[in-house]
Amino acid sequence: MLVQQSSELKEEIMRLKKEKDVVILAHNYQIPDVQDVADFTGDSLGLSRQAATVDQKTILFCGVHFMAETAAIISPEKKVLIPDLEAGCSLSDSITVDELRNWKNQHPDAIAVGYVNTTAEIKAELDYCCTSANAVNVVKSIPEDKDILFLPDMFLGSYVAKMTGRKNMHIWAGECHVHAGITPEDVTKKLESMQDAEFLIHPECGCTTPMMYDVADGSYDDKKVSILSTEGMLKHANKSKSKNFVVATETGILYKMKQQNPGKTFIPASEKAECQYMKMITLEKVYDALINEKNIVTVPKEIADKARLAIDRMLAIS
Ligand code: 13P
Ligand code: SF4
Repeated sequence: MLVQQSSELKEEIMRLKKEKDVVILAHNYQIPDVQDVADFTGDSLGLSRQAATVDQKTILFCGVHFMAETAAIISPEKKVLIPDLEAGCSLSDSITVDELRNWKNQHPDAIAVGYVNTTAEIKAELDYCCTSANAVNVVKSIPEDKDILFLPDMFLGSYVAKMTGRKNMHIWAGECHVHAGITPEDVTKKLESMQDAEFLIHPECGCTTPMMYDVADGSYDDKKVSILSTEGMLKHANKSKSKNFVVATETGILYKMKQQNPGKTFIPASEKAECQYMKMITLEKVYDALINEKNIVTVPKEIADKARLAIDRMLAIS
């Protein structure tokens, strides 16, 4: 889109959202144009909190479908719109309700902890929900003698097991294709190209588990390595005194990092780490959903009521 067209569209979106009393929430992986028209940008946890507290009666959620569903569950009295109903998530697709029910039947006394990257139907089967920002605290809050079923991300699961020292966590073998595709080789290459760089890594990454062991055995003693949610990465980059950073997550995060830290350099661990689902949300689709108030995301009441318990338990902990 031409710059002039895009700025006219942005102005029109800004005008319309005021006129219609709509709040726009956007995930940190959204394209820059979409982040620019948002009232709040953030990680999954931050956006869930915003959805629960905003005054507006309509939320236009610029992110993927499970995120908009979470907003609809938390705020059943609000209308939740998404610019593209097809914006899915490979991680959320990695477990079905039947698979989860079978797994629970095999471990009837276990506590089910599920990542927010799951459908509403899956959340309705969970005891606790969690995000990358609070997964460790959620697991720590569960009595140590209780077995845990952790789903669906295996990299986040192994990270949490390592951080909590928990031996009774059963971890579902799901993954996000974007983060799983960031390999230890990608990271090593980038870290070598920027000798004094700090390394920021998302716990969903395929490189997380091997790198945790490398960090533990001292292989990265000369580097500062931080495993963080997307919003955690932004906060860390803002307050760190370092000048250079290698960032292992979806590349959309770099827009705000660079904007908020003009004197610092950020390079992606892998340029290929782009989520095609997040990138389905364009300025034109935001405008279309806003003007026509279309693509309403709804969750049946009986599912929403059960799913809300797991989300509320999470919000109470973190
Ligand atoms: P957070 O923004 O919560 O860290 O999650 C990342 C993610 O993959 C969302 O799709
Ligand atoms: Fe899902 Fe991965 Fe895309 Fe996040 S980056 S929405 S986990 S596919």
